[in-house]
Order: sequence, then structure tokens, then C-alpha cells
Amino acid sequence: MFWPVPALLAWVGAWGIFSGLYILGAPVWLCAILATGFGLGTGRRGTTPWRRLCVAGGFPLSFCATQIGSQMPAWVWLVAMVFLILCYPLNIWKDAPLFPTPKGILDGIQTFAPLPRGARILDAGCGLGDGLRELHRIFPEARLIGWEWS
Ligand SMILES: C[S@@+](CC[C@H](N)C(=O)[O-])C[C@H]1O[C@@H](n2cnc3c(N)ncnc32)[C@H](O)[C@@H]1O
Repeated sequence: MFWPVPALLAWVGAWGIFSGLYILGAPVWLCAILATGFGLGTGRRGTTPWRRLCVAGGFPLSFCATQIGSQMPAWVWLVAMVFLILCYPLNIWKDAPLFPTPKGILDGIQTFAPLPRGARILDAGCGLGDGLRELHRIFPEARLIGWEWS
């Protein structure tokens, strides 16, 4: 199942549990605890820590938002949605997760992949620049270029 479908299903499932129990007359606190538990259980199967957090946090966050949100005018939600779409464009929903180059991982690379002074290196998809920093440490004379669409 491709991301973010598992998260959407988990959120719908948690809200389904909450609503179903509430309709049956269970107290709100019990509905919220059981729905949060469902999200936590489902989130454990996520492939990365961020995805696990995203799946598990969806219900409690949206539950808190509905409690606070009932006091706010509807246009505030529209502004928040536009802001989120601008910060988190749809094309990165199905992209590889950010996987920064770990510090020290390139130690010794210059012995089997030497570069001339002033060599140019492009990190196409540089994320937050960890790979570029690591490359600069090993090849301080190289000209580094990073490209990132996110
Ligand atoms: C594995 S992460 C980057 C890790 C980074 N190179 C490093 O060494 O720390 C992959 C990155 O590629 C970016 N990316 C994927 N497709 C891209 C594209 N067509 N143009 C620019 N960036 C892209 C993603 O947004 C993501 O941040």
C-alpha cells in the first residue's frame, strides 16, 4: 500500500472506533483512549519513525483540533490547509523519505574514488544538505551543488 494510504486508513479507522463507541453511549474519554490505542497499534507497522508518528498521531491531533477548532471561525481552517499544501506539496507524498547521509559514512572514499581539485559534484536530491556537508569534509576543494525540490 503506497504512502499515505496506510495513514489515511488508520485515521479513518480511529475516528470510526471513536464515533461508533460514542454513538453506543460510551464516555468521550473512553472513546478517545481506545481510538488513540488503535492508532498507536496500527502505527507500529509503519516503515519509518516519521510514518509511525504520523499514523499514531493523526487521531489525537485531529481530536484536539476539533475541540479547539469548534471555537474558531471556518476560514481559519481554510488558511491552515492552504499553508500546509504550500509547505508540503503533494508530489512529495509518494517520494522517498528523507534519509540523510550519516556523519563519517564517506570516510576513506577518496582512496578508491579520488577527485581532481575543483571537481564539480551534484547532489541531485540533496535533502537538508547532509551529503553535501560530508562531501565537503572529504573533498574540501570540490565545487558542490545541491538540488532539492522539497
Ligand atoms: C534520500 S533524500 C536526500 C538525502 C541527501 N542526498 C543526503 O545525502 O543527505 C532524497 C531527496 O531527494 C529529493 N528529490 C526527489 N526527487 C527529486 C527531484 N526530481 N528533484 C529534486 N529533488 C528531488 C527528495 O525531496 C528528498 O529530499
